[in-house]
Amino acid sequence: MTALGIIGGSGLAALSGLRVLRRLVQQSPWGEPSAPLVVGEFAGVEVMFLPRHGQPHAIPPHRVNYRANLWALRENGVRRIIAFNAVGGISADMRPGDLVLPDQIIDYTWARPHTYFESDLDRVTHVDFTEPYSRELRALLLAIAADRNIQVHTRGTYGATQGPRLESAAEIARLERDGCHVVGMTGMPEAALARELELDYASICVVANRAAGKSPEPITMDLIQKNLEQGIGRALQLLQAAIPRL
Ligand code: HPA
Repeated sequence: MTALGIIGGSGLAALSGLRVLRRLVQQSPWGEPSAPLVVGEFAGVEVMFLPRHGQPHAIPPHRVNYRANLWALRENGVRRIIAFNAVGGISADMRPGDLVLPDQIIDYTWARPHTYFESDLDRVTHVDFTEPYSRELRALLLAIAADRNIQVHTRGTYGATQGPRLESAAEIARLERDGCHVVGMTGMPEAALARELELDYASICVVANRAAGKSPEPITMDLIQKNLEQGIGRALQLLQAAIPRL
């Protein structure tokens, strides 16, 4: 049984440093996950890796089967998940290449299957989502980042947008008024579904660009890719240091 799951996002379709042991094709009552689950050894520990956007990277954020992904991981013994998410930086200190461990989230997505508690219910269920990310997992990641001198933003509110288009400048201004520090397209419903399955879930966000209207530079896929590469190296360092302590 593998206790730790890693969900890779944009820029992390494959986990470098992962020694692949086997691949599992897992069906779920909710359909197929984004890709076969990869069981492997990372930093000397068995982990289960799932690329959120598939392998190759071809499933857009609004078409990811988040329910199948999390269900498949849980079905195979995963109880803790570290998710990687590419984001745009809204507040001035969220610069390209930075790492952010968000502690709050606002959901602006729509029409995504977003709950397991939908039908065939014995009773209506409302899960507590006051703290959307696992307090323990965040604390551990933050302690390790401090130990290893890996710079991270220790908190932040993640605004989850529908995509796949990027936002307008006015939409980003609204998110900023709402209190969002970063914006991304994959944080929800993933975090809420993890809570419904009682999984410990934390996110390491990598800032890929300044959000719309926050920089004179146009936001291009090239720019996003270049900044992600820079940030992901440090995100992997953090993961590598964290895993033996999880
Ligand atoms: N907006 C939404 N999602 C993103 C962005 C952005 O600017 N950058 C990377 N993912």
